[in-house]
Amino acid sequence: MTDRVESYIDANRRRFIEELQQWMRFPSVSAQRAHDQDTRSCAEWLVTHLRGLGFEAGLVDIGGQPIVRALAKGRSSKRVMIYGHYDVQPEDPVDQWQTPPFEPTIRDGILYGRGATDDKGQVFTHVKAVEALLKTEGELPCEVLFLLEGEEESGGDALARYVTQEKDEIKPDVVVISDSTMYDEKTPALTYGLRGIIAFEFTVKGPSSDVHSGAYGGAIANPVMVVAQILAACVSSDGKVLVPHFYDDVEPLQDWEREGFRKLNFNDQALAKELNVPRLHGEVGFSTLERLWVRPTFEVNGVFGGYQGQRSKTIIPATATAKITCRLVPHQDPAKIRDLVFEHIRAVCPDTVGLEIDEFAASPPVLFDVNNPAIRAAQEALRQGFGRETAFIRCGGSIPVVSTFVEQLGCPVILMGFGLDSDRPHGPNEHFSLDSFLRGTKAAAHLLRAI
Ligand code: BES
Ligand code: MN
Ligand code: MN
Repeated sequence: MTDRVESYIDANRRRFIEELQQWMRFPSVSAQRAHDQDTRSCAEWLVTHLRGLGFEAGLVDIGGQPIVRALAKGRSSKRVMIYGHYDVQPEDPVDQWQTPPFEPTIRDGILYGRGATDDKGQVFTHVKAVEALLKTEGELPCEVLFLLEGEEESGGDALARYVTQEKDEIKPDVVVISDSTMYDEKTPALTYGLRGIIAFEFTVKGPSSDVHSGAYGGAIANPVMVVAQILAACVSSDGKVLVPHFYDDVEPLQDWEREGFRKLNFNDQALAKELNVPRLHGEVGFSTLERLWVRPTFEVNGVFGGYQGQRSKTIIPATATAKITCRLVPHQDPAKIRDLVFEHIRAVCPDTVGLEIDEFAASPPVLFDVNNPAIRAAQEALRQGFGRETAFIRCGGSIPVVSTFVEQLGCPVILMGFGLDSDRPHGPNEHFSLDSFLRGTKAAAHLLRAI
């Protein structure tokens, strides 16, 4: 169709991108207390922006980072709730960025900066889709409620509490989320499964301070060595998690899904090349997509302890710590897995040291039925926005609050992501294709019309 909404988006692309860059300048790092004011200012900027478009918008403060809530009425009383997050991951290692993380910069049609793809750039597609509809058609085709959280990246539960408290007032007909990925740079995708997560750290405690490794070496346990031994007891070299009963509740892959994955023709060599590793690695007996999407994992996010400076220092360190995340799949229960994993770590830790375990976050996996009208509408909207057929995928990542939406709101959830795993979310030089930004904005507008 010759489409005034699409023309409006094309005609205003430069301004859209400049506005997104402005919004990305706020270092809304939710994990760090020093950035609390920046995080709030970032939320306030969006509230002002949405008010400018005619939304009734404000911040919801219920402990933790503020929630952006904005509502606009439409021709029909159907309500679409758009979820996303305006907080970002810490920018470190800052010296590895080609341009500063909070000075968003365009190079070769790609926007670089923290939050470009995760999730400010993707949220902004919906903000600009709504603008395009309002400016060309005078009103929205349906009610739109934005609920954007500021602590997705740091394990906060403000939005989960809010949704649970206010579910009768929120009551959407469908939830739309753009915080995931396309299948590849040309192929749009609908995500029908996210892995769950448990995040924790454990600290092994040795002598009450670092001590001389000659004077005491051989007499006491070394905490860094004990951490290494515990980790080695958690995952085998062929990628199996060794925690007893870890896999008990894992749903075996159905034939239709295995066949679907096979048809996606995933290229292992290309992934190895993209990541600059000699060869891929993972749980034996499963394809790469299976390992990424339907198998659980035990990953070490960081290990530290002992001397980190130049040359050598002869000590036995006082403590050592490992930070861990396990990704979970249907029907693993986060609380049960947490107990199993903690129990295993306690069981394999020798009694020659102290041990402390701290939990940070836990959320269950989600899996959606793809056979509902909302998903079909999204498939059609993506076809219009991207001019390509949609792939149905699962994603390895987690969006903790989505399980609360499923439990509390009982409506379909559409995960319509415009990013790519290779956008380097969470890493240095995070980026987002401006082409995807514009196509995504068009798809988002088509979706609101179709609902
Ligand atoms: N947008 C991601 C989740 C994601 C990543 C979905 C890749 C699909 C593909 C989200 O912002 C995220 O990073 N979530 C965290 C949650 C954690 C901090 C509790 C994650 O998955 O590590
Ligand atoms: Mn995200
Ligand atoms: Mn993220």
